[in-house]
Amino acid sequence: MGYDVIARFYDDIVGDRTASIQTVKNLIQQRVDSGASILELGCGTGSILYTLRNQYKVSGLDSSEQMLSIARQRLDNAKLYNADITSFSLREKYNVILCVFDSINHLTSWHSWKAVFRRARAHLKDRGLFIFDVNTEKKLRSLEESPAWVVKFDNHFSIIDVLRCDSERTRWNIRVFEKLQNDLFKLHCAEIIQRAYPIGVISGELKSYFSQIDAIDSQGDRGSDSSERVYFVCQNF
Ligand SMILES: C[S@@+](CC[C@H](N)C(=O)[O-])C[C@H]1O[C@@H](n2cnc3c(N)ncnc32)[C@H](O)[C@@H]1O
Repeated sequence: MGYDVIARFYDDIVGDRTASIQTVKNLIQQRVDSGASILELGCGTGSILYTLRNQYKVSGLDSSEQMLSIARQRLDNAKLYNADITSFSLREKYNVILCVFDSINHLTSWHSWKAVFRRARAHLKDRGLFIFDVNTEKKLRSLEESPAWVVKFDNHFSIIDVLRCDSERTRWNIRVFEKLQNDLFKLHCAEIIQRAYPIGVISGELKSYFSQIDAIDSQGDRGSDSSERVYFVCQNF
């Protein structure tokens, strides 16, 4: 999978995420007491769980073993599972299930998105919260139209080029040039596919699983197709 190739560089490539991590923390802290259990689907290198670990009992799940191995170094006491977010089955239930930083956009069929909603619902305690975010269609279109960008870190650099794959899917070409010695660079290439769906379609489907659904943008206003990122906060009563 693409993330295995770039796992070592992932946190440097995405850079400073203080604002988006704070948004996720606020969504949780406004609704859930300290000590609650949290499972993150697509936890990657564990950056989000790391910031939550002192206040909550955190667990994570991801299909990239290399991403998980970095998360394991960071999160001594967390349970971390190598599993698919569309088909996982754990013995525990959680107060909060998270799936953020566009992890769900990596699923390119609507069938898979629905499978995540079902799996999340099945693993929530009574009145538990499912919080996930999406890159909107607008955001993916605007990235496709933008030029590739370069991220420099340590002596290495990365070029990220987001391109239209077909009418429905977006391809992220990520190339990392790892500086070796004597001005030699080693190239690592990853390709990641993302897909978005209209906010109304997502909200409509969520009603089959949850009784309360809020769609919120990064500023805390109502999320819509005009937003770049929308956070869904779903709960069952
Ligand atoms: C953009 S990264 C986000 C990682 C983490 N949530 C963060 O905020 O840093 C997406 C993650 O989703 C994982 N992922 C994508 N599809 C998956 C699937 N079907 N099952 C499990 N993990 C998946 C990838 O391995 C990757 O770690």
